[in-house]
Amino acid sequence: MTIFLRIAVLAFLVVGSGLAVAQNPPPAAAIASAHPLATSAGHGVLEAGGNAFDAAVAVSAALAVVEPYSSGLGGGGFWLLHRAEDNVEIMIDGRERAPLAATSQMYLDETGKLIDRASIDGPLAAAIPGLPAALAYLSEHYGRLSLAKTLAPAIGYANEGFEVDEPYRRQVTFRLPVLRRWPAASRVFLSNGKVPMLGERIKQPALAATLEALAAQGAAGFYQGSVAEALVDGVRAAGGIWRLEDLAQYQVVEREPVRGKYRGFNIISASPPSSGGVALLTMLNILAQEDLSTFSETTRAHFIIEAMRRAYRDRARYLGDPDFVDIPVEKLIHPYYGAGLRAGIRLDRVTPSAHLPGIGNQESGRHTTHFSIMDREGNWVAATLSINYPFGSGFMPPGTGVLLNDEMDDFAAAPGVPNVYGLIGNQANAIAPGKRPLSSMTPTFVEDERGVLVLGTPGGSRIITMVLLGILNHVEGRDLTHLVSQPRFHHQYFPDEVQYEPQAFDKAQIRRLQALGHRLTPYERRWGNMQALFWDRLRNRVEAASDPRGVGQAVVR
Ligand code: DON
Repeated sequence: MTIFLRIAVLAFLVVGSGLAVAQNPPPAAAIASAHPLATSAGHGVLEAGGNAFDAAVAVSAALAVVEPYSSGLGGGGFWLLHRAEDNVEIMIDGRERAPLAATSQMYLDETGKLIDRASIDGPLAAAIPGLPAALAYLSEHYGRLSLAKTLAPAIGYANEGFEVDEPYRRQVTFRLPVLRRWPAASRVFLSNGKVPMLGERIKQPALAATLEALAAQGAAGFYQGSVAEALVDGVRAAGGIWRLEDLAQYQVVEREPVRGKYRGFNIISASPPSSGGVALLTMLNILAQEDLSTFSETTRAHFIIEAMRRAYRDRARYLGDPDFVDIPVEKLIHPYYGAGLRAGIRLDRVTPSAHLPGIGNQESGRHTTHFSIMDREGNWVAATLSINYPFGSGFMPPGTGVLLNDEMDDFAAAPGVPNVYGLIGNQANAIAPGKRPLSSMTPTFVEDERGVLVLGTPGGSRIITMVLLGILNHVEGRDLTHLVSQPRFHHQYFPDEVQYEPQAFDKAQIRRLQALGHRLTPYERRWGNMQALFWDRLRNRVEAASDPRGVGQAVVR
């Protein structure tokens, strides 16, 4: 190596990303997603000369077709990007927005009581989708292939159909009443009004046509013209409040991710309107005050639970759409703040949530999707996408093939009134026209000189704590398989209980945690579908893993 090259490499090591990173790109590309057809769509696009961002468009669109209960053109999401050429990290915020006719009282009756399921089922529950705009934006600003190329696999899947599998049947069964109510949705997703059989094919020609319009005209193909008219007409005819103006005004926002450090690792994660990165960093800053490896298993779990409790209190107290409310992000993610919160934690007993100052908050999760992508150029993407509840609102405007979200339910419908997941919020997350509902989605990068971890998961409010547990495993040197499969536990401030996956604690540990004052409730379901990649720089190897709880596929090529 010449002396100049040495200096250049050294300079890169120093200024590159604040990390002593290797200058070589990854030796392989990798994609982990919640469905084999989506993973394969992404690899196809990489092989056709696309970069990780093109692949992210292809995977997002494919998931919109083959995992319709989790995400879709009628929903939104966050795409966290790392671009190799200039080491830029950015978050594409394609979160849904409240319609302009939305009001803070819209889900309440005259007595101020929540109208049952109004923010969950049907067209009134749907916020203005962000996913189509985000795909067009990603393609235009970060990709190198045309949308026609990157959307082609999804269009193919929509025309030819995909096979019904177990998760599909489970989610349809769960949402059968609402899907039956709306003829367009019922024709596509049911078989003569019933749950389709395993192996039956779900074809979506109307969705294929909408994807074609997006491919041909970019965002205008969805937010203007005949698709937009059909969306608005369908919503209004069924009692919703969308207007053409809502669609015409929708804008993707590029946001700075939140950043922090934990034990020498750089953490880069989703910023508001997701609560994910902020809550994650608050928890890590609390945990960083101690050496977890010196704790007994019970003290370790207890300390993590107490950190979760405090971060979720702050989530309920402070977080909302940053375009509408001032959020003290710098304070919440500051190590000193974490140290202060640590000081309030006793290792020998719980702090009941009611003893913490502030407002109640609870949530848990059903469906949403995450994928992680890395290309051989050193670009990577972590994306979590959602239509909220399984099959969103269950409502499909006729002729569009677009199943609408029920992301309006992620707002606090009224102070102290819980949402479908039991979530309680305050003014920061109150409904307002054009506002984005607070999310828990936490696409995240974790980096140090040894490598780059790209991860995320669905799971409602548990998303953030699942990502936390994944990071702790990674920091402790566990492999990717362990990271995606480990039994999980969760605390979210209110209700004041530790939710846990049955295998997470044994009987003795449950007794010891109870002795510290914890109330523990086992839950069988909804422990996520994590999709993770690791570029091991020391071994020059790329690994990928898909959560065994789902049917996803991780492929390194
Ligand atoms: O944005 C959010 O936080 C929720 N809409 C995510 C919902 C979810 O993850 C359901 N998944 N299992």
